[in-house]
Amino acid sequence: MSASAKLGGSSSSSLDEPKPEKGVFIVFEGVDGSGKSTVAKMVFDILSAEMPGRVVLTAEPTESFIGKAVRHANESGADELAEALLFVADRAEHTRQIRAWLAEGKVVLSDRYYASTIAYQGALLKDRLGGAKRAVEWLKAMNEPVIIHPDLTLLLTVSVKTAVERLKSRKDLTKFEDFRFLNDVDLIYRGLCMEDPSFHTLDASKPAQKVVQEAFLAIRSKL
Ligand code: TYD
Repeated sequence: MSASAKLGGSSSSSLDEPKPEKGVFIVFEGVDGSGKSTVAKMVFDILSAEMPGRVVLTAEPTESFIGKAVRHANESGADELAEALLFVADRAEHTRQIRAWLAEGKVVLSDRYYASTIAYQGALLKDRLGGAKRAVEWLKAMNEPVIIHPDLTLLLTVSVKTAVERLKSRKDLTKFEDFRFLNDVDLIYRGLCMEDPSFHTLDASKPAQKVVQEAFLAIRSKL
């Protein structure tokens, strides 16, 4: 478990957080419409059958009062910096819970984690913070004291066109589900993937069963 490793793959950390020794922390990331929630649930069902009581499926934004505030901020059109800070606040609380599960030896599967903030808020705030690079740096710095570095980040990749088509067939789109916006999100995700060794890319244009099979090739090596 590489707890609190510095974002961006550098080896040192400014933190001396206690390291959860036993569990395994796996994160599912991807643009809306990539199918990550479906795949995370399928992986959870398979792993829980193999290891009853040892697997936890969790998600961000969470169901806590801060997670509710995040959703409220989005629905009420709150300031996007305020919203970014709320996502990180939600994560700080969530991380405390994840740390406890890992200390109990659980396999923790999280549907979204810090990379979602880097990618989504990076895309949203880039014009306001002097470009995508600066926005991403600020968001990484803010997340650094908050996160546990995942053992594995499964990035589900699909063309943004396909993702938006999938979303349109399901529901009304939110501000996070616009084609150009998701393209920016996708670019940031791909950049993170190049620099963070916990990332593993999955081709999410394939049927969910196939994506799950490929996910397990990476997951097994971490268990
Ligand atoms: P999503 O995973 O789609 O949850 P649900 O469908 O259950 O509401 O997350 C909601 C949206 O929040 C999604 O469009 C991505 C966005 N998001 C961010 O912008 N930043 C973050 O840090 C996280 C965790 C999510």
